Amino acid sequence: MCGIVAYIGYKQARPILIKGLQRLEYRGYDSAGISLLNGKIQTFKTKGKVSELEDFIVDKDTNGQAGIAHTRWATHGEPNKINAHPHFSQSKSISLIHNGIIENYAVLKEELVSRGYVFESDTDTEVLVNLIEDIRINENVLLDEAVRIALCQVVGAYAIVILSDEHPNTLIAARKGSPLVIGIGEDDYYLASDATPIVEYTKNVVYLEDEEIAVLTRGEKFKIRTTTNQEKTPYVQQLEWNLGELEKGGYDHFMMKEIYEQPRSIRDSMRGRINALTGNVSLGGIIDYEQKLLTANKIIIVACGTSWHAGLVGEYLFEDIARVSVEVEYASEFRYRNPIITEDDIVIAISQSGETADTLAAIELAKSKGATILGICNVVGSSIARATHAGSYTHAGPEIGVASTKAFTAQVTVLTLMALRLAQLKGSIPKTKFMQLLHELENLPEKVEQVLQSNGLTETIAKRYKDVNNFLYLGRGYSFPVALEGALKLKEISYIHAEGYPAAEMKHGPIALIDENMPVVFIAPKLGIYEKVVSNIQEVKARKGNVIAIVTEGDTAVTEIADYVIEIPKTEEFLIPILASIPLQKLAYHIAVLRGCNVDMPRNLAKSVTVE
Ligand code: G6P
Repeated sequence: MCGIVAYIGYKQARPILIKGLQRLEYRGYDSAGISLLNGKIQTFKTKGKVSELEDFIVDKDTNGQAGIAHTRWATHGEPNKINAHPHFSQSKSISLIHNGIIENYAVLKEELVSRGYVFESDTDTEVLVNLIEDIRINENVLLDEAVRIALCQVVGAYAIVILSDEHPNTLIAARKGSPLVIGIGEDDYYLASDATPIVEYTKNVVYLEDEEIAVLTRGEKFKIRTTTNQEKTPYVQQLEWNLGELEKGGYDHFMMKEIYEQPRSIRDSMRGRINALTGNVSLGGIIDYEQKLLTANKIIIVACGTSWHAGLVGEYLFEDIARVSVEVEYASEFRYRNPIITEDDIVIAISQSGETADTLAAIELAKSKGATILGICNVVGSSIARATHAGSYTHAGPEIGVASTKAFTAQVTVLTLMALRLAQLKGSIPKTKFMQLLHELENLPEKVEQVLQSNGLTETIAKRYKDVNNFLYLGRGYSFPVALEGALKLKEISYIHAEGYPAAEMKHGPIALIDENMPVVFIAPKLGIYEKVVSNIQEVKARKGNVIAIVTEGDTAVTEIADYVIEIPKTEEFLIPILASIPLQKLAYHIAVLRGCNVDMPRNLAKSVTVE
């Protein structure tokens, strides 16, 4: 969702800001804008893409060594030029960019209108910038103090950056609920919603905490204080990402690059955590919570979207391997449902971005009930990583494509490691079986490589079905979450309606949809209740449905009846979700490309959903 970039220093701000906005495009947005300070503030805004903003300012005077820029994903007011950020205060002396939602904006606006303020846009942001100006003038305080007072009156979430012509050497930033990272350069500062626009300039970053305000003055040390006026010492961290990870590296789309990165990202998720020779599995980040895990009453997994599907795989893993009772919850439902949580429960929050608002709220709720919260996040230093008691990073590297691919398989890898460790501690599976599973997991990256190399067929299947209106995805056991994830991938990027179902549930509804126009994707490895899945396939064929099946190499029964089969290598059942999801990612990708869709930035979707 909305993206923030800001710069203050001795370089020209415009190229840094525009490039930064481009790096944040993956988050999803519908308009863009920029303010630059050179004596006075100049603001330029456009509806649509950052490239349109870039074209619009090409012949404008955009000199300035300080500036703020924004990509907006509309919440209050439609996506147009007027509602785009930055927003000016009435005197045009303060310009502000904002992510998040000011919930009490209507009351604040009414008050300001009664004092003579006139609003151009429908946004909550314009209310905030005028509130700051009003306080600065009427209470006769410095701008940073006016910001502090204003933020004490605000209910909601925000990450803001402020540029003012009265303080040309300074940017003021603050956050609550929405992320904000400060990059510390030699004698300059970079700010952004996440680290992607900062990586190429500096690796030294500070993640602003909730209710902190930073004052960044070029050439000087920056200061942080809280909205309650406590001074804070900034904690400087080193970014692990490098620039190459943010480029397409020869691929047409980030999504394909990320699909092909999976052997590496899965290896990185396991690095230093598993040794199949010694039988060692350990996750350093949660080592102090192993006892809690061992004695846990139940595990509750909370997540959204693809991460929720990883959570569902987690349920099968923990129950099957570690014999623990697991509930998997949509964070958005869990947070409002008055769920039963005790101090003996462990909540595992899964999130690629570490910023999903619903997941964060679910964590806070579970915390308030005394549960122990563990995180599985990809983005280091993200809000969820910091809100949890402990956790394990997935180490998948930056994921830019909106449709999650390598983050999903890395999440499942970490959940597998967790389940195996718990199984080891509990002795819930025999040692020989445990060693066999460990060995199989260690070999997983090679098998993923094999899957990636052998699937030219997905493109052929994509050509055959690219124009259909509906798809059904079916699987049982470990393959059921794969069916859900496969369907989600397709609808996210190709806009074809797709549904995932447990295969046996087909007879309770979806079977009514099947005719000669309906492609049905079966995840049908020769494991578990394979024969029952074969029967389900026959039921589809009997109704003239088209069957695309993911099968184990050497399969004959499904191969005989399916229209298309995609083979995956033989493996243990617990690794099916990773191996079988990869061809489905590729299938969705090829269909979306053939339909001319914007694969990396699908319409209406955001990579990081920081509002409810
Ligand atoms: C958005 C993204 C999805 C993602 C979901 C949860 O909807 O488009 O790809 O799965 O949010 O995000 P998280 O960062 O918490 O995993």
